[in-house]
Amino acid sequence: MAVEGGRMSSHLKYGTVVSLVVVLFAYWYRSPVQDARLDERLDNVLSSLLRAERKADVSGFTRPRVAIGFGGCVDIIVDGVALLNKIGLQPTALPLHHDYIQNAEQLAQSFAYFFPPGAASERFVMNKTLFSELVEASRELPDNRWAIGGNAPVMAGRMAEEGCDVLLGGNFSPDFTDVLSQHITVVGKTVEEPDIHLILEYPVGATWGQYTSRRANRYIVHSDDHNPYLASMEEFESKLQDFKPDLLVVGGLQMMDSFPFQQGEREALLRRLGALLSSAAPETGVHFEMASFVDPDLLADLQELVLPRADSLGMNEQELPNLLSLLRGSAPTVLSDPNPRVATVLDQMRELYRLVNERHLQSGEGRRLTRLHVHTLAFQALAVAHGSRWKNTMSATAKASLTANRHVCGSADIDPDKAKLLMDESFSVSRREGSQRIHLRDERPVSCWDEEDYQICVAPVLVCTDVHQTAGGGDNISAAGLVLQI
Ligand SMILES: *[C@@H]1O[C@H](CO)[C@@H](O)[C@H](O)[C@H]1NC(C)=O
Ligand SMILES: *[C@@H]1O[C@H](CO)[C@@H](O)[C@H](O)[C@H]1NC(C)=O
Repeated sequence: MAVEGGRMSSHLKYGTVVSLVVVLFAYWYRSPVQDARLDERLDNVLSSLLRAERKADVSGFTRPRVAIGFGGCVDIIVDGVALLNKIGLQPTALPLHHDYIQNAEQLAQSFAYFFPPGAASERFVMNKTLFSELVEASRELPDNRWAIGGNAPVMAGRMAEEGCDVLLGGNFSPDFTDVLSQHITVVGKTVEEPDIHLILEYPVGATWGQYTSRRANRYIVHSDDHNPYLASMEEFESKLQDFKPDLLVVGGLQMMDSFPFQQGEREALLRRLGALLSSAAPETGVHFEMASFVDPDLLADLQELVLPRADSLGMNEQELPNLLSLLRGSAPTVLSDPNPRVATVLDQMRELYRLVNERHLQSGEGRRLTRLHVHTLAFQALAVAHGSRWKNTMSATAKASLTANRHVCGSADIDPDKAKLLMDESFSVSRREGSQRIHLRDERPVSCWDEEDYQICVAPVLVCTDVHQTAGGGDNISAAGLVLQI
């Protein structure tokens, strides 16, 4: 037995050495070839996406007119873990979801809840003292950055850059208005101090105590008490008729989430918004950009007052199941898979599209949903109704995908060395058994096909590996997709 054992262990050792040699050999011999193949694939996908984006060249025509509400803020962007360390917040043993944050312990629990999966999140901080402490600490961090924030101004910036004339509704400080593009006209009151939002960014693989992030993302906190009131709505409404927009965009409503409104106040605001959307001319498309919502009453109001008045919806992989849970009549989801498969997302999109339009048919009011854009880390997916107002769906999907890399890497030129494809070489169009598989073709990376009364397009994202900023990504991506469709 001893001899046997000895032989076995020497066999084992021998085996280990052999496999180590094989692995090293493979690494040394094969990896450059494999790398070259991957590089070539990336280059091909990139040049094909750029070609697809250019296909819908809209230059030379009159500038599209886009009206965007509401609000905005100044973002302070910091390294999330660095900030928590700076204020001496210890990693908690108890990750926990909170609708809003009242003290440092809840902040630690909430961060620990969203950080490991790398899920985007945004929370209201009820405690002003805590929030001021966070802002002060952020100012003192060496690598902090300031940027214009809020869904509406970010979308406005992107649309202006892409050749639109923009009417932006929000109460801003003069400094804020000064740095906006000349193609953006602001309507709203002037305020002294802009609201500040704190963006806690983190890269993939960041660690905080026992927690490690599985993807790059951001956790946002704010203590905003202007934006929840959609304060510029009145002025915005009065300018809308004359401005005659081709597209009306509403975003930033998550500012209302978990905010301590007086009884009935929020509903009144949303009724007012609903009336504004209803008054939009039939030629004007209406887009609603979803966000992170947890308050079921607010979600119910949105479902009744805002959703039925939009032709187009934009959202990420968290917001899609969140909205769907509401339409199904179940409790809103707060955390979903941050890296969902294409088939899963497409099935959710089909269901959302169907449920929203069933409600539309039943009520006989408002607008039919004709466009649904879902942005995820690995891919972009658009569903657009046949014969609807939205043009260039294939190019718009390509542009959305390219914008994802441009935004996150912080550069208009895409460097293939800072990009990778997360999408597999083929994907199934549904989780239903026997569903069709689509092969991702490097020369035609945007796959489009028809289903029922709509077309679906899916494009892979060249995921940025050198993250500059994730916050505002969804807004840039959604806006970039819309620009080519109006
Ligand atoms: C608010 O935050 C401050 C600073 O972190 C803390 O001292 C205080 O206890 C908090 N207040 C409440 C009500 O939790
Ligand atoms: C996203 O939008 C903001 C605000 O308009 C802008 O500063 C930023 O550069 C945009 N990102 C990209 C990739 O253009």
